[in-house]
Amino acid sequence: MQGLESNHIFASEIKQKRKTKKIKIMENVNIMPRIGDMAPSFEAVTTQGNIKFPEDYKGKWVILFSHPADFTPVCTSEFMTFAKMAPEFEELNCQLVGLSVDGLFSHIAWLRTIKEKIDFKGMKGMEVKFPLIEDIKMEVANLYGMMQPGESTTKAVRAVFFIDPKGIIRTIMYYPASLGRNFDEIKRVLIGLQTADAFEVALPADWRPGDEVIVPPAGSCGVAQKRVSDTSGEIKCYDWFFCTKQLLKEEIEQKLK
Ligand code: BEZ
Repeated sequence: MQGLESNHIFASEIKQKRKTKKIKIMENVNIMPRIGDMAPSFEAVTTQGNIKFPEDYKGKWVILFSHPADFTPVCTSEFMTFAKMAPEFEELNCQLVGLSVDGLFSHIAWLRTIKEKIDFKGMKGMEVKFPLIEDIKMEVANLYGMMQPGESTTKAVRAVFFIDPKGIIRTIMYYPASLGRNFDEIKRVLIGLQTADAFEVALPADWRPGDEVIVPPAGSCGVAQKRVSDTSGEIKCYDWFFCTKQLLKEEIEQKLK
């Protein structure tokens, strides 16, 4: 009997230890923001003054992005491209906000060098007017899962967070240090998210403004039947669950103004 009792105590001790271990492992897991989450709040010092995020950007789309380090070549090429495209993003009611785990003076010196000295692919005298966050303590980088230790423990990866006017994360992209981002894709994603919202449609592979868009799926057998037998030409069905319609580029431009 005594043997059984001590076995029981032993088993419950193991159970408890396992539980504690599980909790410890979970504590070490970096909780990453996900699509559909509210953008985590923070206050930060930037090259354009202090910001309260995302509150200061309410009513606007924001592309919050990180880069590994100042004074590095891939990041320099990216910043010049972002600076060149900033007016295009502004036209789409979108503000750019950058971040790296460097300090403010490093940021200022790097942005001055870019403007004064770098001539890359026809981009020259590029002035970065959007805020670049200093994050020496990696607080914001950790909050957003931008530190990915398998890639680097001291530098952020190239993360891109698309945050909508309500402060909700809508798309997340990650690139490694060795690969510069595709800025056409970044702009395509922003226009795609705005188009999907404004017209209540979904967008097929490789969609670009002017291409056919996907209408919401049929919610009943009746609608499914109507869709496939529709001869008006307004809706084209590849099958009952895959129907598209035309949406002109001009209509999109008009609505997203
Ligand atoms: C770059 O931006 O060039 C870079 C940054 C970190 C590691 C490697 C390259």
